[in-house]
Amino acid sequence: MISGAAKLAGVMGWPISHSKSPILHGYWLDHYHVDGAYIPMSVSPDSLGQAVDGLRALGFKGSNVTVPHKQAIMSYCDIIADDARMIGAVNTLVLAADGHITGSNTDHAGFIDNLRLSDPSWDPKSGTAVVLGAGGAARAVLYGLIRAGAPKIRVANRTLDRARALAEDFAPHVEVVAFSDTAEALADCALLVNTTSLGMMGQPPLDLRLDALPKSALVTDIVYAPLVTPLLAEAMKRGNRTVDGLGMLLHQAVPGFEAWFGVRPAVTQDLREIVLGTK
Ligand code: ATR
Repeated sequence: MISGAAKLAGVMGWPISHSKSPILHGYWLDHYHVDGAYIPMSVSPDSLGQAVDGLRALGFKGSNVTVPHKQAIMSYCDIIADDARMIGAVNTLVLAADGHITGSNTDHAGFIDNLRLSDPSWDPKSGTAVVLGAGGAARAVLYGLIRAGAPKIRVANRTLDRARALAEDFAPHVEVVAFSDTAEALADCALLVNTTSLGMMGQPPLDLRLDALPKSALVTDIVYAPLVTPLLAEAMKRGNRTVDGLGMLLHQAVPGFEAWFGVRPAVTQDLREIVLGTK
């Protein structure tokens, strides 16, 4: 139940009906008895500017921003946080009382917090990370890993030029590997991350031999449908520790909820089951 003083937030996307964010934030609003609401907002690319004016006019505390608006929204922000500038995308808006809008990106923190909480023995400083892919998700992963102190990151991507651009932007931490050489590049790897869409439901699996990967390496996938991707299944079979991608989605939501509603929420097993629809 909400009162006339309820705090408002939501998520803007196009389409939006598939978004899991309303379930996730709705769970926390109930759990912490917050006087607030979080709603899905279907916003076409043509009406993004009007929608932002609407957030201001309606006194929203903020909003999440998802596909296809994560880049376009930047031109409507008064302040763009360093993370969003480096990653090249905004996923969280916070509105100040005077209507000023700060745009930030919480995916990098979601990625790192998920690894830290899922596997407390993981140390980002412990060795080389291999990142597959060079899209928006890879940029968030690189930003997070560099901030957490990763000494060296190898990026392998089908389109080499995209990996090169990323290595330039995140110099001197990143080296580029041809996609066809990925299997060999795993030899001294402490962390393997898939940020490509390979392995996602309806997509081909990632075709990668893990023979060279040390048994001590941690393997994670940002794909979470299915929860156990073929890559994670293969890694588990040979005895590597694995972390699935659902936790990144849950953890990236924490900073927004805290900024809008004033409570830092916890990511729990109960929440995972609610978002997965198994509870
Ligand atoms: P996101 O923002 O989720 O990272 P994206 O920018 O579309 O999405 O990036 C998708 C990633 O998956 C890219 O690294 C892409 O490789 P290219 O840069 O070569 O396009 C990778 N990817 C998608 N399909 C692939 C395939 N069939 N084989 C190899 N890589 C693939």
